[in-house]
Amino acid sequence: MKLTNANIVVTGAASGIGASLCERFAAEKPRAISLADVDAATLEISRLRLAESFPELKVYSYQIDVSKESEVIELVRSVTQATGTIDLFCGNAGIGTALGLDASNEVWQRTMDVNLMAHVYAARALMPAWLDRGSGYYLLTASAAGLLSNLGDAPYSVSKHGAVAFAEWLSITYGDRGIGISCLCPQGVRTPLLFPEMQSAAATTSDPGNPSQDAVALAVVRAQRILEPSEVAECVVAALDTEQFLILPHEEVAAYEQARAGNRERWLGAMRRLQAQISGT
Ligand SMILES: NC(=O)c1ccc[n+]([C@@H]2O[C@H](COP(=O)([O-])OP(=O)(O)OC[C@H]3O[C@@H](n4cnc5c(N)ncnc54)[C@H](O)[C@@H]3O)[C@@H](O)[C@H]2O)c1
Repeated sequence: MKLTNANIVVTGAASGIGASLCERFAAEKPRAISLADVDAATLEISRLRLAESFPELKVYSYQIDVSKESEVIELVRSVTQATGTIDLFCGNAGIGTALGLDASNEVWQRTMDVNLMAHVYAARALMPAWLDRGSGYYLLTASAAGLLSNLGDAPYSVSKHGAVAFAEWLSITYGDRGIGISCLCPQGVRTPLLFPEMQSAAATTSDPGNPSQDAVALAVVRAQRILEPSEVAECVVAALDTEQFLILPHEEVAAYEQARAGNRERWLGAMRRLQAQISGT
């Protein structure tokens, strides 16, 4: 898809990968970019930064919680009213938990709502207009955890597997009807999700379902190489240009996925060894 003159929405746009996507998209001269995030203070900082860097660009911001269907519907309605039909919707907001069986039912539910159901709500709200006009593009930020697993985070792994499955289902169902779908699956990226200490005082996340990420951050940092969010955004722009479904900024993930599919027992053994190294057992 062409980003020039496109009407773009990015959720989770206040920070990390979402903020970098907005900056990189802006350089392609889109018609407008609408930033959506639950964190009002950081959202305003990101909006101002983008508007200052790209004075010609129409920049809008919407404080919403993507886990609430009514707010996602309202986002799509408001953006459409302000700037016309949405061309590219980036469902990017996400949370981690750093928990396993100790995660409460509330944490499981919250993680599934933000990391999976938000995409269902957005696709439901977008698809009628997109199918009517025979075009539209959904970029879903999942994770390599949705193809492999995330050491130390059960709700995250499960929700991201669901998100990958939903992206595949959308592509199978609507891919021949003019609808583009891409699924972004990075491993570690230098953002507050993985490095909570990056969070500025103005950008504190008040999400009750998002406890300290220290354990999982340490685990993941030790297990893989870390990319900058700007590198991820660069990969996304290249992949959107060719309408590639699976976007792997860490290209080694393709081999890991093949290894998993080719011999599940051996892959699980290797993952258990990694887990043992991380937990020092
Ligand atoms: N950082 C990584 O290592 C990594 C790796 C793979 C995938 N991802 C995925 O990338 C996406 C972006 O994460 P990031 O790393 O940039 O983290 P981040 O914490 O920097 O950004 C996430 C943004 O989502 C927002 N958000 C959280 N819950 C929300 C909600 N309910 N409604 C609206 N906005 C909400 C947060 O306020 C934040 O601004 C997530 O889906 C994450 O799972 C991140």
